Amino acid sequence: MQKVTVNASRCYDILIGSGLLPTLGAEAKKFPKVKTVCIVSESNVYPLHGAAAEKSLREAGFEVISYVFPAGEESKNGAVYLSLLNFLAEHRLTRSDLLVALGGGVVGDLTGFAAATFLRGVKFIQVPTTLLAAVDSSVGGKTAIDLPAGKNLAGAFYQPSLVLCDTDALSTLPREIFLDGCAEVIKYGIIYDRAFFDYLKEAGPEFDREKVIRRCVELKRDVVMEDEFDTGARMKLNLGHTLGHGVEARSHFGLSHGKSVAIGIAMVSRAAAKRGLLSQQDADTIQDTLTAYGLPIRTEYPCQELVDYMLSDKKRSGGTIPLIIPTEIGHCDIVPTPVEELAAFVKAGL
Ligand code: GLY
Repeated sequence: MQKVTVNASRCYDILIGSGLLPTLGAEAKKFPKVKTVCIVSESNVYPLHGAAAEKSLREAGFEVISYVFPAGEESKNGAVYLSLLNFLAEHRLTRSDLLVALGGGVVGDLTGFAAATFLRGVKFIQVPTTLLAAVDSSVGGKTAIDLPAGKNLAGAFYQPSLVLCDTDALSTLPREIFLDGCAEVIKYGIIYDRAFFDYLKEAGPEFDREKVIRRCVELKRDVVMEDEFDTGARMKLNLGHTLGHGVEARSHFGLSHGKSVAIGIAMVSRAAAKRGLLSQQDADTIQDTLTAYGLPIRTEYPCQELVDYMLSDKKRSGGTIPLIIPTEIGHCDIVPTPVEELAAFVKAGL
């Protein structure tokens, strides 16, 4: 088992390894005064892992209740959020009780936001069951729900009390969902660590999961500790996300987040190479690696449509958008880009 400790506004451990789900009860026991634990999960994940999570918690002496909502991003909304809060209130959870987010990014974001706001804050444990959640969304305390006007528009920074990542859960993932998470994994190599990128390039998707999740989580831990509230260095984690958001939103979320981010990373790399900011060799290596992982690198959507959707993203600040531009594999710059220059950049990346 691997352990990474995050020392942010709350100090917590991230445990990574095989066979960890049955230890959930023993881990939860380390928090004082917890009587009731509410597992929050969705309709695809709960049938696979719900019973094991409940058994572990019951055997540790907790009263366990479960709230399961329909799988999919469309459930990350105000109605499901309020219904979860009402469920917690009806079951009389107290401030010393605990929520467990059992699932991928949707479950983690929604549960985290409920934990941040129910009784003005209760503890929660992230149990990520997708690669994307394991390497990104379960760590760092970004919690949110979507509004009709856009993704993640209502939320809070609220750190979990523990992240328990059982790598066995990743074996139950459909291949497509696993590869989606690989886009975020490759992203860490491009932003921070050339040697890690080279390992991913050589190993391909059969990489050592425990080792890779650990490295991603260490990199994320470092940036969250430097910039927990996302006003500076943490923005680099958005590499490929502004352009990717345009593609994802233009597809009306028919294209997955991971695939959209892969296209965004490829577009920003092509545009950076055209402008002489990134070597053509590194831009080609980035694209070849994404392709080797079965990820797309191009979109057919017209430039102006993508720009229109990009401008609905919350990353916009005044008249500029912070674009994350790779200058070499292992290093990126944050470049505040005037909105009126965005179309030329996107065009260069198509
Ligand atoms: N997913 C990007 C971040 O946590 O900042």
